[in-house]
Amino acid sequence: MIQYMSARQAAEKWNISQRRVSVLCAENRIPEAAMLGNMWIIPIDATKPDDARKNNGAKMKENARPFVKWAGGKGQLVDVLKMSLPIGFGKTITKYAEPFVGGGAFLFTILNEYELQEVYISDNNKELINVYEIIKRDVVLLVNSLQLLQVEYDMCNMDEKEQYYYHKRELFNNMSLCKETKIEKAALFIFLNKTCFNGLYRVNKKGKFNVPFGKQSTPTICDQDNLLKISRKLQNVSINACDYHNVIDFADDSTLVYFDPPYRPLNATSAFTSYTENQFNDNDQIELANFYKTLSSKGAKLMLSNSDPQNVNPNDKFFEELYWDFEIHHIKAYRMINSKGSSRGAIQELLITNYKECIK
Ligand SMILES: C[S@@+](CC[C@H](N)C(=O)[O-])C[C@H]1O[C@@H](n2cnc3c(N)ncnc32)[C@H](O)[C@@H]1O
Repeated sequence: MIQYMSARQAAEKWNISQRRVSVLCAENRIPEAAMLGNMWIIPIDATKPDDARKNNGAKMKENARPFVKWAGGKGQLVDVLKMSLPIGFGKTITKYAEPFVGGGAFLFTILNEYELQEVYISDNNKELINVYEIIKRDVVLLVNSLQLLQVEYDMCNMDEKEQYYYHKRELFNNMSLCKETKIEKAALFIFLNKTCFNGLYRVNKKGKFNVPFGKQSTPTICDQDNLLKISRKLQNVSINACDYHNVIDFADDSTLVYFDPPYRPLNATSAFTSYTENQFNDNDQIELANFYKTLSSKGAKLMLSNSDPQNVNPNDKFFEELYWDFEIHHIKAYRMINSKGSSRGAIQELLITNYKECIK
């Protein structure tokens, strides 16, 4: 049976515009391309036809980017974080650890821009870490599964897309993560992230993914080019599904550890800590601060970000008291996770380092 990809996927794969793919199909330049409804579908293993035209539209990006949208993702802060790296990073500091990796916005910046001797990432969300592992070891099989999901989704009208989404969500929730299911679960994880409301990963108390359908008509479910780049970048990265405390075995005086824990909620409605069935509360923030001190005394360089409670209450000294003997910087960020457009403005965040001198 022939496996197909959509015109959009062919466009991404061949680095040409989707319109150009349709023209090539219409000109019979792609063997076995077929019309399905009003869309072209193209055999997955079709090769790009010789085309004298230059590509003006699609641009090949060289850098790996996060493969999921993630609550609390640090895409907006990457430049500030880069300037806040300690002097010697990439020279005397040759190891990097990110024990709350999430979508890895900063991780990918580090992997794109630095050659490090050792990199360690972890998160206690097992489903998320499974995706990192599959991208590292089985990216081709993952891409095949995602291509199928992309073609099937693209073929549906909006009502069918919604039914398809809920069907896949149920499948994901009812399938336990094991050797036999890990590739399919990784593909479903990415599919759900790309098609759910606001690209959010949120689970209920039983640990079941419960984000509603996002009504997206043409999401990129399979970004093959990026997944292949990520796979290459992850080859020397140690990937761990575990609690952040385990980073202690990795961190030494030539390591930078970047902590990006779940935010301490600014108020009852801004709370988002449901990455897993366990919440991260004030006691967890206190425990983390104690752990920060322990690692600091081992000589590791440390950066930690969190929400700044002084956005809503200038007298709230929660973090000042916890981290009084470290450097506390107030930096500007843009919160993206709140669904109300009005709540997405500039906001102050905290960056806490155990060193004074930054790369700048
Ligand atoms: C703010 S997000 C990290 C976002 C990430 N920096 C990014 O750019 O996408 C916090 C992450 O910590 C993870 N997490 C929560 N509690 C944890 C724990 N005790 N140990 C390890 N990871 C934890 C969550 O699953 C979530 O992915």
